[in-house]
Amino acid sequence: MAIAIMCSGGDSAGMNPAIKKFVDYCFDLNLEPYLIYDGLEGLIDGNIDKASYNAVAGVIHHGGTILRSSRSKRFFEYEYRKQAYENLKIYDIDKLIVLGGDGSFRALKQFYDDFNINFVGIPSTIDNDIFGTDYCLGVDTALNVLRNAIDDIRDTASSFKRGFVIETMGRDCGYLALISSLTSGAEICIIPELEYDLDRLKDRLKREISEGRKYILAIVAEGTGATEKIVKWLEDDVGIEARASILGHIQRGGNPTVIDRLNAFEFVTYAIEELLKNKNTNSVVVYKNSKFEFASIDYITSQKYKINPELLKFANKMV
Ligand code: F6P
Repeated sequence: MAIAIMCSGGDSAGMNPAIKKFVDYCFDLNLEPYLIYDGLEGLIDGNIDKASYNAVAGVIHHGGTILRSSRSKRFFEYEYRKQAYENLKIYDIDKLIVLGGDGSFRALKQFYDDFNINFVGIPSTIDNDIFGTDYCLGVDTALNVLRNAIDDIRDTASSFKRGFVIETMGRDCGYLALISSLTSGAEICIIPELEYDLDRLKDRLKREISEGRKYILAIVAEGTGATEKIVKWLEDDVGIEARASILGHIQRGGNPTVIDRLNAFEFVTYAIEELLKNKNTNSVVVYKNSKFEFASIDYITSQKYKINPELLKFANKMV
């Protein structure tokens, strides 16, 4: 029985451990594993290979994805989806595992509706912005990359009397910035989910500076677009020299953490078993309330992800 795995959208750490587990577990179950390279673009172009142990040897500790990924515009068109379907038919593949975000899952749902290609999605994005799951593959590694970077920036901030405005990724979601602010002991956290009051923050910081505070760390989510504004405000209103540090794509890479590796194994095992159990599957494995379960694409795409309000409460002092 042929089954394939692919990545779609932004890469995230944990994809390689998932791909390795996929191949190993398929061989354990006497299935025929296939690897689709270059995401949906590769599916259209027929970049498909039969998997071997060798193809996934020595990849478990690497970030990114050995399968590479893409964001495909062509896949929106029926003609190219048909071409993708013809490519799968060559290998008798009617089961797919897709590591990606909700946009990719929506594309695969269309593919399922067109050609009945069963698939299970594994939420994989550093943004942690998929409704219906508390965790997406790669988030833990991204948070640890951020922890290291912020700890390092603190060394410089504390060597001068400076404010550092550190911009995180996350698209419209403030999850990375919020968790990083909390776990790095930042003074300020600016995220799309919370209103902030610069006058109140200014009063507090000025008081603390007069009491001996030497430096300030502000974590700003890219989705707010407020990085430069906060730098200027620190200099002009709070009265401290300030620098911006935009961390960028380092957050997507890096050696996957133990949590991302183990969760990759769990996600893939659930996905393969679901594809074997159910003849008509188009769902997503989610991690909800410390348990792995399944959710429909309609459910996953029905709402916008919301950060747990209990976590948001912790940021009270930082906004
Ligand atoms: O979705 C992952 C992500 O890294 C976002 O956090 C960021 O906004 C975007 O992708 C960057 O996209 P690109 O790699 O295309 O620049």
